[in-house]
Amino acid sequence: MTQGSVRAMLERKHEAGNLVEIVDTLDLKNVMDRNIEDLSGGELQRFAIALVCIQNADIYMFDEPSSYLDVKQRLNAAAAIRSLLRAEKYVIVVEHDLAVLDYLSDFICVLYGVPGAYGVVTMPFSCREGINIFLDGFVPTENLRFREAGLVFKVSDSANEDEIKRLAHYNYPNMVKELGSFRLEVVGGGFTDSEIIVMLGENGTGKTTFIRMLAGRLEPDGGDELPVLNVSYKPQKISPKSSGTVRMLLHAKIREAYIHPQFNTDVMKPLEIDKLMDQERVAIALCLGKPADVYLIDEPSAYLDSEQRLHAAKVIRRFILHAKKTAFIVEHDFIMATYMADRVVVFEGTPSVTTKCNT
Ligand SMILES: Nc1ncnc2c1ncn2[C@@H]1O[C@H](COP(=O)(O)OP(=O)(O)OP(=O)(O)O)[C@@H](O)[C@H]1O
Ligand SMILES: [Mg+2]
Repeated sequence: MTQGSVRAMLERKHEAGNLVEIVDTLDLKNVMDRNIEDLSGGELQRFAIALVCIQNADIYMFDEPSSYLDVKQRLNAAAAIRSLLRAEKYVIVVEHDLAVLDYLSDFICVLYGVPGAYGVVTMPFSCREGINIFLDGFVPTENLRFREAGLVFKVSDSANEDEIKRLAHYNYPNMVKELGSFRLEVVGGGFTDSEIIVMLGENGTGKTTFIRMLAGRLEPDGGDELPVLNVSYKPQKISPKSSGTVRMLLHAKIREAYIHPQFNTDVMKPLEIDKLMDQERVAIALCLGKPADVYLIDEPSAYLDSEQRLHAAKVIRRFILHAKKTAFIVEHDFIMATYMADRVVVFEGTPSVTTKCNT
């Protein structure tokens, strides 16, 4: 990770004469004097996009620019990227969010194949054609079907979950946390078992800060006593340190869950952990596999494609309800959020400056 302030780094790399506009489009003004290592997930992502945008190049490439960004910032990022277009320049983007794709792209190549084994890139299609091919799972020009059924987005299948008996009850107090020039105010609240609470809020409103306080990784100001909770925490920025295989890692970290049949049907199978290994899904499995009462999951959907997001949402929901646990989940994807949430915690205020979290 690089050191120094956002301003210093951007000014050092600046060549294309568009620094002011890019900082403005990407809403980075409030964090210019912050250290790069202190940025929230979404701020860091926008800083990284800005760093590419202010350099001179013939071809600009972006790998999943919308990960970690909230809805508003996704469109800002798309606008910043589109502003790079000139007659003699090219922009190549890898992207999962279909709405961003629709806004961003002129041509789309669809990649299909067997995840973890091989992939094939199609010829470029027009934007609308490309999105439809991806959704249908069928390439007409090749007469080739790469997925058995089309993708359908069904919002929440509210199965007979009404009869849940809730036994345990926990509370957390009003809390305040100041980090440099950022101030977060949390209105106290409570939660029960078999409940999923989704945290919604723009980038830089303190979602990660709140979750880290619940996890006991960060102390609230004023020394209010937090209830001691038995938590399992998946951080937003996952950094794989293990050098062995996924199987070895799972064995070492969550041996009991790994050999438990229920965990296998509820979590491992639907996440297809056995077949392939992307960090995000392994991190979700590791988090759910650790015995705890409260699961804190910061942005599970970042880096997952739209199909896997639905799988992941189902897995998390089923696991939490079956095991009678509680989950706090930070999520920017509305389809996932509505699918999972029993309750929503909203963060409001001026992002990156002062914010408040209501229950
Ligand atoms: N040590 C620090 N010094 C100054 N500011 C900080 C520090 N740590 C975090 N911040 C600021 O606190 C704010 C909230 O950060 P947090 O990571 O909680 O946001 P978030 O809601 O999780 O955002 P995102 O959706 O982008 O992940 C950000 O604006 C961040 O820049
Ligand atoms: Mg965060």
